[in-house]
Amino acid sequence: MNGCTITGMGTALPDRVVRNEELTALFDTSDQWIRERSGIVTRRVAAGPLATEPLPPHVPGGLGTTGRLAVEAGRRALSAAGVTPDRIDLLILCTTSPDQQVPANSAAVSAALGVRGGAMDLNAACAGFTYGLVTAGGLLGAGARHVLLIGAETLTRITDWSDRSSAFLFGDGAGAAVVSSVPGEGCLLGWDLGVDGSLVDLLYTDHGAGMVMKGQEVFRRAVRVTVDSAVASLERAKVTADQIALFVPHQANIRIMETVATKLGIPTDRMASVIAETGNTSSASIPLALAGAVAAGRLSDGDLVLLAGFGAGMTWASVVWRWQATD
Ligand code: ACO
Repeated sequence: MNGCTITGMGTALPDRVVRNEELTALFDTSDQWIRERSGIVTRRVAAGPLATEPLPPHVPGGLGTTGRLAVEAGRRALSAAGVTPDRIDLLILCTTSPDQQVPANSAAVSAALGVRGGAMDLNAACAGFTYGLVTAGGLLGAGARHVLLIGAETLTRITDWSDRSSAFLFGDGAGAAVVSSVPGEGCLLGWDLGVDGSLVDLLYTDHGAGMVMKGQEVFRRAVRVTVDSAVASLERAKVTADQIALFVPHQANIRIMETVATKLGIPTDRMASVIAETGNTSSASIPLALAGAVAAGRLSDGDLVLLAGFGAGMTWASVVWRWQATD
């Protein structure tokens, strides 16, 4: 079996920045409350009442805001990796907010990028990118050469803008990685995937409706499953938390992220965080935070990285990854 490594990353965010203060036009809230309870200061918005250019009712060619963000991030990742689209064996688009219900959003994205190898959507909510990374690792181990893994979301399209207890959390964006096969063990050292489908009612969106969330219960469960999953991945990788150079949690709420880091014994200055600028971007949050840390020069060759996400379902996933620097 071959191993795998990340050969290039890319990100994309909508231009429209919405500050907490702007949300006071929609519901009774304050910048201070949102900052203290979530750590969020701004989010990027592509749809909903605060978007500069609201989405048209129909999406021509199937490429709406989720697809466009995915294409932009995917193109940048391919360019960073120096891999042409014809060499991609599979495009995995992780999203919980696709532009159309049928076909899979990855079809239009693959056409725009020139990928013909294969394409599918993966919906594991905010654990999506980490689920995708494990899936890519398996395929690359079985003989594929390159997988283009993209997390892309337009959560503002399914946000309930009349619900002040959830609407401030969500934002839009995309992050992508080219994951390539390498001889030997590679970078995926340990992983854990999980789901508890009896918890669907904690967070869901029905067709044509807005997101419904039991925030406190999600908070409580999220901390527990993320910690347990991270511990399982660390054990499988045969490493300890003090060896982790960078912790990249799902960017849901700074209080959840810091509580998980503390319970794992990882100092919060070793945590990657973009939540203040992006809010919760679901499948896009982990690649956005990882790419941000890479761009800031926070990772060196050989560093151990712990990725850990949880999401609606309830799903969870974690990965221990050895960072391999690319030129
Ligand atoms: N502005 C001002 N006050 C508010 C707001 C608001 N936007 N929203 C709620 N409040 C009020 C409530 O009405 C309540 O008032 P009361 O005490 O008079 O009843 C008070 O603030 C406290 O509300 P809580 O719900 O207890 O606030 P909490 O500290 O739990 O924070 C939050 C709420 C931030 C939503 C938190 O529960 C959370 O982050 N939960 C996890 C959410 C999450 O991670 N979701 C994503 C999952 S991943 C995915 O798949 C998308």
